[in-house]
Amino acid sequence: MKRKGDIAMQLLKERILKDGVVKPGNILKVDSFLNHQMDIELINEIGKEFKARFSDCPITKILTIEASGIGIACIAAQYFHVPVVFAKKSQSVNLDGEMYCTKIESFTHKKVYDVIISKKFLSPEDHVLLIDDFLANGCALLGLIDIVKKSGATLEGAGIVIEKGFQHGGQQIRDMGVRLESLAIIDSMTDDSLTFRVLIFRRQNTSNHQTITGIFILLTYFHFTYVFSFYFRFMLFHCSAACYCSPGFLRPLQPEFLLCSLQAHPLELPGSFS
Ligand code: G4P
Repeated sequence: MKRKGDIAMQLLKERILKDGVVKPGNILKVDSFLNHQMDIELINEIGKEFKARFSDCPITKILTIEASGIGIACIAAQYFHVPVVFAKKSQSVNLDGEMYCTKIESFTHKKVYDVIISKKFLSPEDHVLLIDDFLANGCALLGLIDIVKKSGATLEGAGIVIEKGFQHGGQQIRDMGVRLESLAIIDSMTDDSLTFRVLIFRRQNTSNHQTITGIFILLTYFHFTYVFSFYFRFMLFHCSAACYCSPGFLRPLQPEFLLCSLQAHPLELPGSFS
């Protein structure tokens, strides 16, 4: 049976196939439902799915980067019950107060940004989940990872809506040991076709839960088998002992007695003539 999340992710893939437009330079435009006009019902399912995939992590903050990541992060944050912090892209480094700062060189946008986050909003006690709409060469995500490192917070992982699997960002970030969950990974795209990577996702906590339930059922089964077989043998032993030892009313149950009575009164089966 399909998980609810699998159905939601199937909806996302179908939507990409239906409304996504491939532009020159391997750019996939999904601005009719994801990063300009936003389909809130679909993004809500995306938010739930991020929660399902990271439900075993003690997330205290969701971190994203302006602009398109913000809406998706906010919807997901409702399921984590944590605040969203977004990194600001700043051309001028006229910084006000204490800031974490890093440079992001976007191949897609052909620009270098200074990206800043106020130190007030990220501290070593935080457990951070990164969320963004796209992962291509990974510059934006690498910048956010750098900021998390500078803050001393714990990076729990990254949730991406669409990963362009034919660009190196995803591989590079996984190789760094970051837990990266992309809801749709595109392995190739041309003007008229898109190929998605087939992923089998098992929720960590569910499989643990199922394993524990399985072990419990097995233990219960063995316990009852043992107890019942012990009880049965116990009863059998006591009944036979009682039959042998008691000369009185249990005597008819003694095997010798039964044999003797059968010899004295042979069974008359229906249909047998003598
Ligand atoms: P890069 O290093 O190749 O630049 O890409 P990266 O993995 O950092 O991707 C993240 C940024 O690139 C995102 O922008 C995303 O919007 C944009 N992007 C990359 N590939 C595509 C694509 O095929 N289609 C669309 N629509 N966007 C793509 P960002 O830094 O988060 O800024 P913003 O665009 O949200 O303002």
